[in-house]
Amino acid sequence: MEFTTIRGFRDILPEETPLWQKVEQKAKDVFRTFGFKEIRTPILEYTELFARSIGTDTDIVSKEMYTLFDSKGRGLTLRPEATASVARALVQNRLYQQGAVQKLFCIGPMFRHERPQKGRFRQFHQINAELFGDEGPKSDAEIIYLAVSLLETFELNNLTLHLNSIGCATCRPKFREDLKSYLLDKSQHLCPDCRRRSETNPLRVFDCKVEACRTIVREAPVITEYLCEDCRDHFFRVQEYVQELSMETTLDPRLVRGLDYYTRTTFEIQTQQLGAQNAVLGGGRYDGLVEQLGGPNIPGIGFAIGMERVMALLMEEQKQQPARPDLFVAALGKQAEMTSFRWIQDLRKRGFWVEQEYGAKSLKAQMKKADRLGCKRVLILGERELETGKTIIRDMETKEQSELAVDNVVETLTSILGGENTAHGK
Ligand code: HAM
Repeated sequence: MEFTTIRGFRDILPEETPLWQKVEQKAKDVFRTFGFKEIRTPILEYTELFARSIGTDTDIVSKEMYTLFDSKGRGLTLRPEATASVARALVQNRLYQQGAVQKLFCIGPMFRHERPQKGRFRQFHQINAELFGDEGPKSDAEIIYLAVSLLETFELNNLTLHLNSIGCATCRPKFREDLKSYLLDKSQHLCPDCRRRSETNPLRVFDCKVEACRTIVREAPVITEYLCEDCRDHFFRVQEYVQELSMETTLDPRLVRGLDYYTRTTFEIQTQQLGAQNAVLGGGRYDGLVEQLGGPNIPGIGFAIGMERVMALLMEEQKQQPARPDLFVAALGKQAEMTSFRWIQDLRKRGFWVEQEYGAKSLKAQMKKADRLGCKRVLILGERELETGKTIIRDMETKEQSELAVDNVVETLTSILGGENTAHGK
């Protein structure tokens, strides 16, 4: 019997991993310049953590969580997102006592039982950033700028930044009430889920993908018209900072995002290139979350990038050059094999990617293998070279060959190979 991955789960194959590593490394470099430190939280958490943070009426909690039960009957859930876990870790480890502002990032897999389609998986990966301890608006703009900078560093183009404010506990109730009565009026045209949502959590109707509900939502009241003075001022100042950094934005009063913890600023970066799954990144402010999880009243803002969507765009935009070994060592005869075996390991210690043949093969077969692997150079060592004390190095692109003294050959190769971008070192 042949096993396959679970539907919506996928292997990231060796030909893809260099691009994943490159994106992760670039992200870490950018995070460092913004003063973000890495946190790694467990993949499995108590179900209540997500129910309480994301909200029981959201699609994520009501339909999409992978939940199991431990021997005591407690619900455990594979994390569908990272913000709740990072906020939990902040509270549990009292990280907020170490300084006024905490800036944390994490990278890793998330799990949502959604219907798989282009750009949508059941196991997917996020690059997640969270800033705790500042109410903004400068930190809002900086977080948005960090998000934009990351995508720019990945060399992604043709993206649009959508921005909104969804108010606070002061102004949202009135909006909620008006939205509710608007939706109840149209109730017979809503899908059964939205009929229920319009009673329990009307904002969630904005997330519905059913066409009839989307049409109704297009005419619905918008939150920006209900913002209290503080929220209006906050949103205005966020935009001022955003403009100062020359970020182009589209104001989108219907951008409420599918998680209940958001307050005030919400944003998404979207692409036209991935069909229905157009959000490459989403985020927002969540000023009540830490307190809701038993911590002090600490505001927060953050975002998460969908890595599969970044990869899909990068694959589409540019054909990636596969990494190539720096050197292939072709050895002929027992003595040459033993001698070069040592050299190969010494060169690897110096950071070079070196390949060889494991079995006894002809020179022709070894050259063929070097060519197939895309090696830049081949070092040839046989009994004759050992006798004369001179090995041969061949440039696989120019086909030029020259002799190298066997004595100190590792040193000599280090300076020849080190003069260029090594596959291993860079
Ligand atoms: P989210 O909008 O649910 O927000 O997810 C963020 C990003 O993850 C999406 O924009 C998308 O690129 C990617 N994503 C989500 N679901 C899938 C999926 N099934 N397959 C592939 N990619 C997916 C959050 O998760 C919030 N925790 C973001 C946040 C952090 N807000 C504040 N801090």
